[in-house]
Amino acid sequence: MSDLIFNVDNVTLRFGGVVSLNNVSLHQKRGEILAVIGPNGAGKTSLFNSLTGVYQPQEGSISFTDREGKVISIIGKKAHRVASAGVARTFQASRMFSALTTYENVKIGAESHRGIGVIGAMVKGPRTRRGERRSDQRTEELLKFVGLYDKANVISSSLSYGDRRRLEIARGLATDPQVLLLDEPAAGTNPAEKIQLTSLIRKVRDEMGVSILLIEHDMKLVMALAERLYVLNFGSVIAEGSPDAIRSNPVVIEAYLGSSDDESEKSPS
Ligand SMILES: Nc1ncnc2c1ncn2[C@@H]1O[C@H](COP(=O)(O)OP(=O)(O)O)[C@@H](O)[C@H]1O
Ligand SMILES: [Mg+2]
Repeated sequence: MSDLIFNVDNVTLRFGGVVSLNNVSLHQKRGEILAVIGPNGAGKTSLFNSLTGVYQPQEGSISFTDREGKVISIIGKKAHRVASAGVARTFQASRMFSALTTYENVKIGAESHRGIGVIGAMVKGPRTRRGERRSDQRTEELLKFVGLYDKANVISSSLSYGDRRRLEIARGLATDPQVLLLDEPAAGTNPAEKIQLTSLIRKVRDEMGVSILLIEHDMKLVMALAERLYVLNFGSVIAEGSPDAIRSNPVVIEAYLGSSDDESEKSPS
């Protein structure tokens, strides 16, 4: 069985004249915490969208190997099929149902995974009720796991940024994924919340065995968490390696300095 969970081979993605991904090849080992970094517009979110079936690259191949060892070709698959194969993600901009409670937000994820759906939830036959008990159980476990059990009945729009980020992780985990893609999981959080998120993400991998693919601008968080990194710039992979190798790579330093128009935290210092 392949020890690669993702294998991306020569992927090119274009929007009209814009090349978002230019001949990108990369891989992720099963169980790895892998990061993709790069300046704004480098193609990081485009890569995530391609890995999750949201975007369809014109060239190359992306394969995902599930826990039974079955190799699935992602390009051409619909996003919900990719999700049910075991690929979960959080979004750069929060996409939860802000009028619902913490509990309800996670439970929706657990139920959609079990295919109960809106009709099933209304009809509530014996099978649905059993499924619902399992979803309730799973929701409670996940809220405890991410440290939000005491806020289960809080309306999610009134949660702090750090708590919202943890809620999104719980929602991603509700579908029982093999890999979790996190798009800027620490955006908007304060230093104390960043430390908590770092240990939560590591715990997801260590205790649940879920592989982590991370996009993040905060270099301290990325370097603390990632076992290996790829650097994207203008749609191309310009470097790959351990945190130490990336930090001291002149090509990487140049790419960041060359685009340092805003946040100084982006420079890999
Ligand atoms: N749906 C889209 N339509 C047109 N252009 C897009 C689309 N998605 C991404 N792009 C372009 O692809 C490039 C990379 O964007 P993105 O993947 O969002 O970068 P990053 O996440 O690294 O900031 C940008 O030039 C962006 O404008
Ligand atoms: Mg992005």
